[in-house]
Amino acid sequence: MASLEAMFDVRGKSVIVTGGASGIGRAYAEIMLQQGARVCIFDIDAEGLDRTVAELGAQVGSGEIWGQQINVGDRPAMAAAFDAVAERHGRIDTVFANAGIDPGPGFMTPEGERNPEGAIENIPDSQWDRGIEINLTSVYTTVKNAVRHMKPNGGGEIIVTSSIASQINESIVGTSYMPAKAAVNHFVRHMAMELGAYGIRVNAILPGPFITNIAGGRLRNKADRAAFESQSLIGRIGDVEDIKGLALLLASPAGAYFTGSLIVIDGGSLTRMT
Ligand SMILES: NC(=O)c1ccc[n+]([C@@H]2O[C@H](COP(=O)([O-])OP(=O)(O)OC[C@H]3O[C@@H](n4cnc5c(N)ncnc54)[C@H](O)[C@@H]3O)[C@@H](O)[C@H]2O)c1
Repeated sequence: MASLEAMFDVRGKSVIVTGGASGIGRAYAEIMLQQGARVCIFDIDAEGLDRTVAELGAQVGSGEIWGQQINVGDRPAMAAAFDAVAERHGRIDTVFANAGIDPGPGFMTPEGERNPEGAIENIPDSQWDRGIEINLTSVYTTVKNAVRHMKPNGGGEIIVTSSIASQINESIVGTSYMPAKAAVNHFVRHMAMELGAYGIRVNAILPGPFITNIAGGRLRNKADRAAFESQSLIGRIGDVEDIKGLALLLASPAGAYFTGSLIVIDGGSLTRMT
């Protein structure tokens, strides 16, 4: 029987985390680094990227962390960034397709009022396009580049950050977010079907509300938080620490039988709402 250490052993793995300079992605990067992986963060926010790499790099750990400033919507830049990781680490084992945004205001305010800015007839087309580009198309780009490197190596793990908003409607979130995340779920299952034969496992994490910097960090405000807290069955919203164990499980030998799974981690919010 494998030891606990062997079950969760990710030492030396070559890992990419998109959107890893903040929030959930930073937590993925941190746990993998702490467990001895070599991690490259891709993020559009240069300052946040430098800060995160410096802070995580200062931690004790046998891993390695570095970053590349990149917009996940930029396809040529993504291909080059993946190649740079493969060159530096010699291979790519684990990819977290995590970067995502709240594309704009929802049609309701957190206080329960109608919000004309988020009404369907007023949504700028550019806002819709950006939401789909970052929350859906960039996942396709990330998976495509991951597979290009994983197939010749005989396998790997791809972990996509979806959302419980793929399964319910959140009226205070920008309208394109829900269909983008729903499509991400379907894409993850489709990729799991295509790639299982190559030893590549593809899974999605579906977080409920977590305190991060998304939507300008609004969940740090008490008023905005209240609506989400009341949905949780355990009386609180998520802290990014809560997501580390699941990320490590999916990236490690202990997670070897997961593929095509859509795993909800939400303090029971979805259970209450559906
Ligand atoms: N926080 C939540 O409540 C919650 C719930 C469900 C799902 N999610 C999902 O979790 C993922 C991470 O979000 P978070 O809450 O940690 O938010 P966050 O804003 O704290 O972190 C997102 C990171 O992605 C980066 N990013 C944004 N656009 C990018 C781009 N075009 N190219 C490269 N990097 C980019 C940001 O700079 C930031 O560092 C997203 O996919 C989000 O949809 C979050």
